[in-house]
Amino acid sequence: MSDDDRPYDLVVWGATGFAGRLVAAYLTDQYTPESLSLALGGRSPDRLASVAADVTDGSEAWDDVPTVVGDATEPRTLREIARSARVVCTTVGPYTKYGTPLVDACVEAGTDYCDLTGEVNWIRETVDRYHEAAAEAGTRIVHSCGFDSVPADIGTLLVQSFALDEHDAPCETVRIYVDDASGGVSGGTLASMAAVFGAAAEDSNVRETLRNPYSLAPAGERDGVDPGEQRLPRRDPLRSGWTAPSPMAPVNERVVRRSNALLGYPWGRELRCSEVIPTGRGLTGAAGATLVAGGLGLFTAVMSVGPVRAALQRHVFPDPGEGPSEEQMEHGHFTVSVVGRGTGGDGTFTVEAEFGADLDPGYGAAARMLGESAICLVRDDVDSPLGGGVLTPASAIGLPLVDRLRAVGFRATVGEAE
Ligand SMILES: NC(=O)c1ccc[n+]([C@@H]2O[C@H](COP(=O)([O-])OP(=O)(O)OC[C@H]3O[C@@H](n4cnc5c(N)ncnc54)[C@H](OP(=O)(O)O)[C@@H]3O)[C@@H](O)[C@H]2O)c1
Repeated sequence: MSDDDRPYDLVVWGATGFAGRLVAAYLTDQYTPESLSLALGGRSPDRLASVAADVTDGSEAWDDVPTVVGDATEPRTLREIARSARVVCTTVGPYTKYGTPLVDACVEAGTDYCDLTGEVNWIRETVDRYHEAAAEAGTRIVHSCGFDSVPADIGTLLVQSFALDEHDAPCETVRIYVDDASGGVSGGTLASMAAVFGAAAEDSNVRETLRNPYSLAPAGERDGVDPGEQRLPRRDPLRSGWTAPSPMAPVNERVVRRSNALLGYPWGRELRCSEVIPTGRGLTGAAGATLVAGGLGLFTAVMSVGPVRAALQRHVFPDPGEGPSEEQMEHGHFTVSVVGRGTGGDGTFTVEAEFGADLDPGYGAAARMLGESAICLVRDDVDSPLGGGVLTPASAIGLPLVDRLRAVGFRATVGEAE
């Protein structure tokens, strides 16, 4: 089927969910029916109609938005949706539970795809099952186009591109600092975390994927010098002060390593990449790092126990579809800094990139990151040597995504570190 025969440029699949609504609202606010042939997808015609009415209400550009109905548990409906669009972007999660049939349908239909997943076990599943077929067919399956892992992956690309341009050498070490992140968490995100813990409890291959720092690298390239996530409070090797483990490090670090591998190791086979949360200097910094590391360790321990996990989901976590309040999202903001250190002809150098926005990182910002990733795929506005495969934001799209995000209010800078 040629792209010209497809009625839609883009289907937002999961438009009735918490994140999906935000993506739909963002795209209809930012684009017009003339510039983007958009459809909203989901399983409930009534809920879809209500979202379509909400996002067009008061809009000068959109009278209505078409909707497409299917169900993640009915692959035939997903194949129809995949055949109707050039690109599908999806927020239907947990991806571990609902994601695979849509990837399958997109690979079969030759439809480009992007999502918000941070579920490492599931990314590995699609790598193993679909990378080769998608690469051969020239279909781009781009995972992790939200807060995990755009700031880390694209921030690393900014740093490494600068190092290669200015010093003719890549950074051997990249350290990602979540300097600031203020926002909420949705029921869907917590359900996805629970799905990863559940999969790990049941399957030793999943446990191995979560253990091996190189588990998202191509087959045959799944080892190296990088020791993997920091698990304890530590004095930072590059900045003065203390750092704690970051909850997103398990996905972000692996995504960066996959980008490096897919691009043919332009950042070196010995790249060491880590993501942490800085907590400040002196005793306060040490105490802060201990508290964060302890809290994360406790959360991991609790979520690893099946009945406790189920009880938390039933009685404590917000339900799927629920998320942070308007007010929480309005006051959200984040800054991620990526510091790279390398050795060039003139000795060692340090490069720093900063990526951030005055938006809730997981929702307002993630909706824009995913929406603009999808637009890059629709318009083929990418800087990538890869025509297809199971890819990452940096390897599939690259720096054009930074330009688009800057144009909608993100901060993205790079230069020599002071
Ligand atoms: N990386 C990031 O920055 C980031 C940020 C936010 C969210 N996320 C991820 O995005 C995903 C969604 O989060 P969320 O908070 O939006 O979750 P949510 O509100 O629970 O939304 C889930 C969506 O999936 C749909 N769905 C569930 N079962 C389905 C089925 N059988 N067929 C079709 N659709 C089905 C739901 O439809 P109904 O409305 O009909 O129930 C809803 O639209 C999660 O995996 C989360 O971790 C990532």
